[in-house]
Amino acid sequence: MVHGSRKETPRERRWKTPPPPFVSGANVTTADRNALRDAGWPTCWSGAAELLDWCRPFDAVLDTDGTTRWFPGGRLNASYNCIDRHVEGGRGDEAAIIWEGKLGETRAYTYRQLEDEVNAFAAALRDLGVGEDDVVTLYMPMVPELPIAMLACARIGAPHSVVFAGFSADALATRLTGANSEYLVTCDGYYRRGTALHLKSMADNACLSVEQDVEQIVVNRLDDGRSTGDHHSYADLVSDHDGAEIDPVERDSDDLLFLIYTSGTTGEPTLVGHTTGGYLAHVAWTSYAVFDLGPDDTHWCSADVGWITGHSYAVYGPLALGAATVLYEGTPDHPEKNRLWEVIERNEVDVFYTAPTSIRAFMKWGSEYPEQHDLSSLRLLGTVGEPIDETAWRWYREHVGGGECPIVDTWWQTETGGVVLSTLPGADRMRPGAVGRELPGIDAAVVNEVGEEVAPGESGRLVLTRPWPGMARSLCDGSGWGARRTSTVRNQWQYDTGDNAVRDVDGYLHLLGRADDVLNVSGRRLSTAEIESAIVGVEGVAEAAVVGGTDTMKGSKVHAFVSPESNVAGDEALRTRVRSAVESAIGSIAAPDSVTFTPSLPKTRSGKVVRRYLKAIANGETLGDTSALRNPEVVGELESLLDE
Ligand code: WTA
Repeated sequence: MVHGSRKETPRERRWKTPPPPFVSGANVTTADRNALRDAGWPTCWSGAAELLDWCRPFDAVLDTDGTTRWFPGGRLNASYNCIDRHVEGGRGDEAAIIWEGKLGETRAYTYRQLEDEVNAFAAALRDLGVGEDDVVTLYMPMVPELPIAMLACARIGAPHSVVFAGFSADALATRLTGANSEYLVTCDGYYRRGTALHLKSMADNACLSVEQDVEQIVVNRLDDGRSTGDHHSYADLVSDHDGAEIDPVERDSDDLLFLIYTSGTTGEPTLVGHTTGGYLAHVAWTSYAVFDLGPDDTHWCSADVGWITGHSYAVYGPLALGAATVLYEGTPDHPEKNRLWEVIERNEVDVFYTAPTSIRAFMKWGSEYPEQHDLSSLRLLGTVGEPIDETAWRWYREHVGGGECPIVDTWWQTETGGVVLSTLPGADRMRPGAVGRELPGIDAAVVNEVGEEVAPGESGRLVLTRPWPGMARSLCDGSGWGARRTSTVRNQWQYDTGDNAVRDVDGYLHLLGRADDVLNVSGRRLSTAEIESAIVGVEGVAEAAVVGGTDTMKGSKVHAFVSPESNVAGDEALRTRVRSAVESAIGSIAAPDSVTFTPSLPKTRSGKVVRRYLKAIANGETLGDTSALRNPEVVGELESLLDE
């Protein structure tokens, strides 16, 4: 937005340049970026690794001898890098975690306090028998004990597996089993919109239905004396181990730092592992280059720590750089719609990172809320999770960024670990509606079905054509779904991201959404297969298919097509049972926004459900040729049902 009487020229409207004071103080300038591009990817990524302290230096940047391993020979500890080295460097009294609790409580941890509590909890975990490589599941809301537990696990070399607190007991059980985890850190409960939710009873139910014995540790948040069952109290463990010092365990660069569940391309819940050295180098460097963070900054990534965004940019990235990170427990509009802006003002937040779905909600609530607050501490804004449209982009910049802040639209995935496509805020022009380019060290292409690059302006599949340090470990062995090779592009390593994109003539990428069965609702990646299996478990349901329908607020909504058994009516009662089955199997975040009953689902002659048609029907799009279907008539019936 240009202030004053002069109107924007079309060029100014299309391109935005970062303000000169930002450019002159940026971590990565245009000259730095050009030098990195000229130097090539090994230099880019060895520079990233140099942001960390290694117990043993790495022998090479990348070892591609059979498997893909980043920084082979290198040894390090993530908790040491995120805590101790800052305390040793004289920054022990600086803020590390600033927690903004639900009921207006706040709690801040300096780096020294963080070090003390992480050591005490690490000692407690060890005493309970947690050894190196044992997986510890963390099922917790946004309380400071969540990052503390993550860092305590990292300290003793035990990979954590964080399960989003909005998931149900059944979903937790699946994830405990999948990770073969015998330790669970949870919370008695938490408040959502002023109502207490009892997490511990969900944890108990989950533990009852898994085969292994699970040792539970409970953080008291509600403290209403309702936590039953066998468990250790987090507070008691920490006070019993007060003053303990645990040497950070040296991990191989390639050793697991954590596991995280996400949905795979076929919609199945999939376990993804991230490494200690590659992942940490990637998130530290992108925090430095993309979020322009340094030790004097206060960073607020509004994503829940239960998702990858919270892991990388609320915990590991900012703490690796010695910045302060804000952790917010509540919902953005409770108790008032100005809560977020109040938190930014009070904590003088420098960098704010959120999702387009939230920005659309802020727009709907109106600019009077941010206008009530002094947001001048903000110097950079970021978005992630889905494409940001130009209107939302301009509103965000004008009403949150004071018309001045650069915005980074960051594209990445659970599998990439950290940002791979974005602009660099001090070096690149911004184009509202486009994500930007590959970061230095990243190679990407938009390709057709046979893996050949398409011309600018043509859409195709976004692939990454060279490994990157934050890549999930499952992509490193060259097999599996992640590293699909195409038949004609021989010896060309390609990772198929599952997203469609188009590159414009200026080289900027525009994301067009998922091409596979991954569902992204309000920036949360849900598993269609998990939702479907909950629905078919409902008595009277024969078959179900779930697809994403477009939603102006949430990005996508969950649209279920359900075929009841022949003698069962598709009525309101069944619809309610379908919704509550999904809530109890996964959580309310996955409950279908709409349920359409149909006598059968569109299928190929070999009996495979054709989701493409269902997606088109859900979005009111034209279907094209349906003659390859075994039952083309069902498509017409479905269209007329939805028209009603
Ligand atoms: C989508 C979240 C457009 C994309 C970090 C991707 C985006 C999926 C953007 C990964 C963006 C993420 N523009 N789409 N800036 N960022 N996505 O694993 O479809 O929860 O494949 O990781 O979110 O979701 P995930």
